[in-house]
Amino acid sequence: MNNITDVLLSRSSLRKFSSTPITSEDMDEIIKCAKQAPSAGNMQMYTIINITDPQLKEKLSVTCDNQPFIKDASHILVFCNDMSKWERAFNLYGAKQPGDKSIDEADFILSMQDAVIAAQNAVVAAESMGIGSCYIGDIMENYEIHQELLHLPKYVFPCCMLVLGYFPDAPIIAPHKRYDNQYIVCDNTYKELSDEQIEAMFSIGSQEETKAWMKRFYDRKINSDFFKEMGRSLHAAMNDWKK
Ligand SMILES: Cc1cc2nc3c(=O)[nH]c(=O)nc-3n(C[C@H](O)[C@H](O)[C@H](O)COP(=O)(O)O)c2cc1C
Repeated sequence: MNNITDVLLSRSSLRKFSSTPITSEDMDEIIKCAKQAPSAGNMQMYTIINITDPQLKEKLSVTCDNQPFIKDASHILVFCNDMSKWERAFNLYGAKQPGDKSIDEADFILSMQDAVIAAQNAVVAAESMGIGSCYIGDIMENYEIHQELLHLPKYVFPCCMLVLGYFPDAPIIAPHKRYDNQYIVCDNTYKELSDEQIEAMFSIGSQEETKAWMKRFYDRKINSDFFKEMGRSLHAAMNDWKK
């Protein structure tokens, strides 16, 4: 164990924050750590939008699937995967010629990896400084609304959002359990789990209890309106990148 593994193993998502706003020095440090994350070809194919405007926070609380705690965060960081700057530079410097490869889904996914890795650096840095955070996946919904709200040009997609605030006075939640290694880690090659192993992995008690929980979970996540909207929104965004 060291300081970093201590932070990683003790963190949990924070949804109730101290009312003290995060200082600009602390935010600068968090952004510095986010930017120091590895990125493909060191291209940093992202833009970080630092949101402090209460009205904007309020709107994001609603457009991100009505989650009121979003507006109570001191700061919101929206990580956008961004090929707009590189595309413009390629054109400005004449690197890209007519008929050359255009931006497509591969650029979308690679730049999204850059953005998400930078976000996770921000999470770890913040946590180490007494600043809790929570990812908000719903920023990927309502693409057209978020595009207008944040004035996003073509080839910029808000793929990842963090709400941040100092730890509250109340005790921090204990870390949530993770699945055992046997279900998550394979040696050298993928090993498909047997039905018995799947049942052991997901069991929460009796067969009946697990069955009921699995149905509730499926309906709350994969089969929910917000998941369907996320799928629609992502398809719309990726199609825009291909045009
Ligand atoms: C991509 C992503 C999207 C998430 N979206 C939300 C969200 O919209 N609202 C929320 O309250 N938590 C959200 N979370 C937090 C997860 O619920 C949380 O990480 C998970 O339950 C594990 O708990 P822990 O982070 O406390 O260990 C998200 C996490 C990730 C990684």
